[in-house]
Amino acid sequence: MNLTHSPLKLLITASLSLVPMANAFADQQDNIAIEKGKQLYQSYNCAVCHGEKGKGDGENAEAYDPYPTNFHDTKGYHHGYKVEDIIHSIKYGIKDNPNSIMPSFSHLTDQELKEISAYLLSLQEK
Ligand code: HEC
Repeated sequence: MNLTHSPLKLLITASLSLVPMANAFADQQDNIAIEKGKQLYQSYNCAVCHGEKGKGDGENAEAYDPYPTNFHDTKGYHHGYKVEDIIHSIKYGIKDNPNSIMPSFSHLTDQELKEISAYLLSLQEK
């Protein structure tokens, strides 16, 4: 079969060129979520404890035990660094340790929780 001008070839070429486009679209969506998450991080004042850049160096951070997590270091997380762990920590706060001052942010929507956690994940150095 000669594929040079066949509709089949056109179809194959067209669908193959959609793959990188779909990937670029997904990357763009990720970047939007991260950017929104960063804004939420600022508006909810997470920086007071976790620091402006999420390094666990907010005001008086050293005075706290347990100290506010540095989001850049996956080994420094006390309650899991995967997306579902992070969402859980933010939504419910840290309750298993009575000394922990990590409050719960249960009023955030699922969308906001996803966006903040996308931002925190983007900080992680693996
Ligand atoms: C009053 C200080 C304070 C504020 C405000 C605060 N945190 Fe925390 N956060 C902490 C402390 C302290 C810990 C460590 C708690 C522990 O290990 O028991 C923590 C832990 C966490 C964890 C769990 C990390 C781990 O170690 O597994 C996440 C995720 C987190 N904070 C996200 C946030 C986000 C997002 C905000 C803003 C919406 C925020 N925090 C606001 C003090 C704070």
